[in-house]
Amino acid sequence: MTAIYENREVVRVRPACEADGEAVRAIRNHAVATSTALWTQTQQSPADARAWLAAHLDRGSALVAEAGGRVVGFAVYAPWRELDGYRHTVENSVYVREDSQGLGVGGALLSALIDSARRAGHHSMIAGIESGNASSIRLHERFGFAVVGTVREAGRKFGRWFDLTLMQLPLEA
Ligand SMILES: CC(C)(COP(=O)(O)OP(=O)(O)OC[C@H]1O[C@@H](n2cnc3c(N)ncnc32)[C@H](O)[C@@H]1OP(=O)(O)O)[C@@H](O)C(=O)NCCC(=O)NCCS
Repeated sequence: MTAIYENREVVRVRPACEADGEAVRAIRNHAVATSTALWTQTQQSPADARAWLAAHLDRGSALVAEAGGRVVGFAVYAPWRELDGYRHTVENSVYVREDSQGLGVGGALLSALIDSARRAGHHSMIAGIESGNASSIRLHERFGFAVVGTVREAGRKFGRWFDLTLMQLPLEA
């Protein structure tokens, strides 16, 4: 799976593997420290990151984007909620290195992730997005996700409340 950056650099999206663990952890931990995309300030330890990635590798639900020989982003999906009745509804996460954002990497990842969830037979994909995260909302709209609700003051970080916008994409025709 390949796509072209707007500036013509090639980004390659491929299934993640164990060796991607530290690059993925670095991208995630940077977002934890600096953004309101993830509502925690707890950095993922190497052991936690290995366990988190291993669950995705078992399910085949993790992708990375590579450009210039390094991992510049990742995307995963996981069951939206725990009870088995929800098993055909998955929730996605897409993260791109700060220096590679706005170049189409998120689009390449999300496109491949949707294809992969469809191939796995899932019915619906959900994105839970901080309501002020315009680039993520725009990205999901571009792939056909629709806003299905907003949970007011769903979470706190940096001493403030944040709303959660829920977007949904049906995966079956
Ligand atoms: C959100 C994120 C994954 C998007 O990835 P990306 O590689 O930057 O995305 P793309 O370049 O493929 O597309 C971004 C879109 O947002 C648009 N955009 C960027 N900034 C914007 C803004 N402030 N307002 C509205 N749209 C904006 C871009 O124009 C583009 O839309 P277009 O293709 O219609 O022009 C990435 O910015 C990121 O990792 N952010 C930090 C973590 C995060 O928020 N993850 C999502 C958690 S829900």
